[in-house]
Amino acid sequence: MSKNAVINLDGKDIELPIIEGTEGEKAIDIRKLRAESGYITIDSGFGNTGSCESTITFIDGAKGILRYRGFTIEELTEKCSFEKVIYLLMYDKLPTDDELSSFNEDLKKYSTIDNDLFKSLFSSMPKDAHPMSILSAALSVLSTHESENLNPLDPAQVDIAAKKLMAKIPLIAAASYKYSKGEEFNVSDSGLNYTANFLHLMFSNGSDKYDLKPAVETVMNKLFVLHADHEQNCSTSAVRFVGSSQANLFASVVAGVNALSGPSHGGANQKVLEQLQSICDDGGDASKFIAKAKDKADPFRLMGFGHRVYKNFDPRAKLIKQSCDEVLNVLGLNDPLLNVAKELSQTALNDKYFSDRKLYPNVDFYSGIIYKAIGFPVEMFTVLFAIGRLPGWITQWKEMHAVDNRIGRPRQIYSGENERSL
Ligand code: ACO
Repeated sequence: MSKNAVINLDGKDIELPIIEGTEGEKAIDIRKLRAESGYITIDSGFGNTGSCESTITFIDGAKGILRYRGFTIEELTEKCSFEKVIYLLMYDKLPTDDELSSFNEDLKKYSTIDNDLFKSLFSSMPKDAHPMSILSAALSVLSTHESENLNPLDPAQVDIAAKKLMAKIPLIAAASYKYSKGEEFNVSDSGLNYTANFLHLMFSNGSDKYDLKPAVETVMNKLFVLHADHEQNCSTSAVRFVGSSQANLFASVVAGVNALSGPSHGGANQKVLEQLQSICDDGGDASKFIAKAKDKADPFRLMGFGHRVYKNFDPRAKLIKQSCDEVLNVLGLNDPLLNVAKELSQTALNDKYFSDRKLYPNVDFYSGIIYKAIGFPVEMFTVLFAIGRLPGWITQWKEMHAVDNRIGRPRQIYSGENERSL
């Protein structure tokens, strides 16, 4: 097969190298195109633009495949703790038992935040501040106390910063919830694993310890693993982009948190539940809302539906849907929102508008029903996504530095006024 693509511009043949990935994905390397022809490429939303080569995550959107470091999410969710998946992503190998326990020890060691720092931070925020805004602000404040771990070019500092971020994000998340309720913040319980400790931080109340059900721990672990990475999505690209300016890891991750908060991205999980609730409150007629979603004069979109990459099904949504039924059963809950969600998705899947556009339930469609069943308020949902996605952000940032840390700087086509005088 030819290793070059040939493009004819203004009567001149320009040869451009072809790059092929290990799964057969192909790209035209246009890096020399402008120098040789004067042309750039335009691709708003970057739907057809590869920003990097990466060894971390593989997605086949047509077949519904998602793998981290070559392992399928089906196998990882079945057999691995979130900590093990974090290690796999960050260090590109499955840990030995000793490596995993040493990694866990480090996470536990860093799983504290100075109480005074916390209190002064929160005291400047309203009680109803959105937890994603709190997370963004808190991570920035945290970085001001980490001056010795901010050099992006020092791997030892980066490693400490990465572990501290992983260890402290559950504390910030849980504190934002406790603050909204006017309750004291809990301290970490070193006897618990990452997921169980997070649930304790959230739901224990002083000496009244959270009654941790194994099924709840299992499903939360699964949800964290399912969110752990998703190659070059909006928030990850934001993290890489900010990091490419040699900004530190904390600053780059804060960019990821802010990008994730939008309703077209991670913020969709909150919007899904609010939408399901309003459908339920309106009498539960799914077809009325499907009609609104199809009406081009109406900005209404079916939240939790559609994906830039998945055009058959989102494998995460499939696993989460199964867990949703299981967890509600175990908890003895019969949430009417689950029935509305099922009816909505069934109606949409049978509708030509959705099938023509290949719109299927995405990762956010069912996750909120599980979070709600466990007791998380809707405002916390996107923060849960952020906890899960943090290892992916960190890993992608590290890879960007290791492989290609040229500053991100797209070009444009200027379409404004030509030079004129006042
Ligand atoms: N409801 C109704 N119509 C939709 C929806 C939806 N949820 N999603 C896409 N469409 C339609 C668009 O109107 C468009 O129709 P047209 O071709 O007639 O103009 C077509 O499908 C293609 O949509 P785009 O917006 O071009 O698709 P894109 O890949 O840019 O957007 C996105 C993907 C943002 C996820 C979109 O599907 C959406 O807004 N979904 C709802 C929000 C959501 O669930 N976001 C979470 C995504 S997963 C994640 O980030 C974690």
